[in-house]
Amino acid sequence: MAGIVACVLLSLVTMVHSQVQTAFLEYMQTRMGVLEERIAQWHDHSSRYSSELRDFKNQVLKMLENIEKEREAVRNEVENTNVRVDRLEREVDYLETQNPAPPCVEIDEKLTELHVNKKKKNEKYEKLTGCPKAENPDTAEPNVVPSPPPNRKSYCSDTISQVNAMKILKRYGSSTGLWTKDPIGNSERVYVFDGSGNDTVYLFPRMKEFTLSTSTRKSARVKLPFPWIGTGHVVYGGHLYYVRQGDEFQVIKFNLVNKTVVDSAVLPIEDQVPVYGLSTHNYIDIAADEEGLWVIYATRENEKNICLAKLDSNSLSIEQMWDTPCPIENAESAFVVCGTLYVVYNTKLPSRSRIQCVFDVSGTISSENVPVVYFPKRYGSHSSMKYNPKERQIYAWDDGYQIIYKLSMKPKDELY
Ligand SMILES: *[C@@H]1O[C@H](CO)[C@@H](O)[C@H](O)[C@H]1NC(C)=O
Ligand SMILES: *[C@@H]1O[C@H](CO)[C@@H](O)[C@H](O)[C@H]1NC(C)=O
Repeated sequence: MAGIVACVLLSLVTMVHSQVQTAFLEYMQTRMGVLEERIAQWHDHSSRYSSELRDFKNQVLKMLENIEKEREAVRNEVENTNVRVDRLEREVDYLETQNPAPPCVEIDEKLTELHVNKKKKNEKYEKLTGCPKAENPDTAEPNVVPSPPPNRKSYCSDTISQVNAMKILKRYGSSTGLWTKDPIGNSERVYVFDGSGNDTVYLFPRMKEFTLSTSTRKSARVKLPFPWIGTGHVVYGGHLYYVRQGDEFQVIKFNLVNKTVVDSAVLPIEDQVPVYGLSTHNYIDIAADEEGLWVIYATRENEKNICLAKLDSNSLSIEQMWDTPCPIENAESAFVVCGTLYVVYNTKLPSRSRIQCVFDVSGTISSENVPVVYFPKRYGSHSSMKYNPKERQIYAWDDGYQIIYKLSMKPKDELY
């Protein structure tokens, strides 16, 4: 009996035990299910976070890019503003030139006070003008022809007293170039040589067309049979006189009406060197004035100073040659007015250009009795300055700007 009771008890205990086990397992399964769900959720979240993080990073990169672009735009804006300020300053310069520049007056007064002994005087002169004083003309070696030919006509006897006004016409082409008009006849045509060597010349019927033009594409052009070099060319009496580089420098006379070469000449000048210390592209600079054509050049033989020659516009022969006292060093450009060579000087870092040395073939004036004439403040350098004797103004090419300088004159003998 006791055995039966024990057996029943045992089976009861076993039954309860298995029931408890089942419940526990069920419980554990539910818990694990919940945990798995949570893990899945975390996983979900973290991948969402990382994709959000990626988006954010992309946004930031885009913003940085935009900021960089804006910075570039601002930089361009600033550059444009600088160019405009430059322009404005030039315009202000133009207005300022309506009044004579005070430094000239000052130097003029000082020069008239020079009456100490000659050596001191020369030193003082050199300090004031930066231009070495010419040899005393009485003792100086005579040049090729000792005295001017008796048939030399003096068409005018004026000298530059100041640069009266400056007009910036345009910004066109390269930093180097030349623009000019024919001083003979009534042609209003504007001739443009862009660069320091090419075979093409651009032509505009009048100043207005040139100032309104936006490119050379629409302008007429003349293609020359031989390329030109430098900025030493002139248009004179319907002909273009230009410099051609070959083994030697040649002057070509080109008829602009029927577009043919009329004549050419190799000038009797040996061992040429660049005529202006501040630029290397000009070996021959042809100039026109009231008396005709001139050639400004330099040779190895007379390495320090600029030479001048009178050129016959018909035959291209040299009538006369002079060694001038005007140094090549720091010379920027030059032109001839009424038989007087005016050399324009500057510094390697461009400052104000000034006429600091003059050479008068008639001997009436010299650097000693001519005040230094300043050009209005500029920022580049003059690659050409072409005097127009009819209009009495200079067509200059300043670092790609086309500028007209109006000159005021006075008789040479009023300097005394
Ligand atoms: C002349 O200038 C134009 C425009 O700059 C250029 O395309 C051409 O090659 C130049 N010609 C010569 C002969 O230098
Ligand atoms: C061009 O004109 C000049 C001057 O008028 C003349 O001497 C020359 O013979 C002409 N040349 C041609 C090819 O027509």
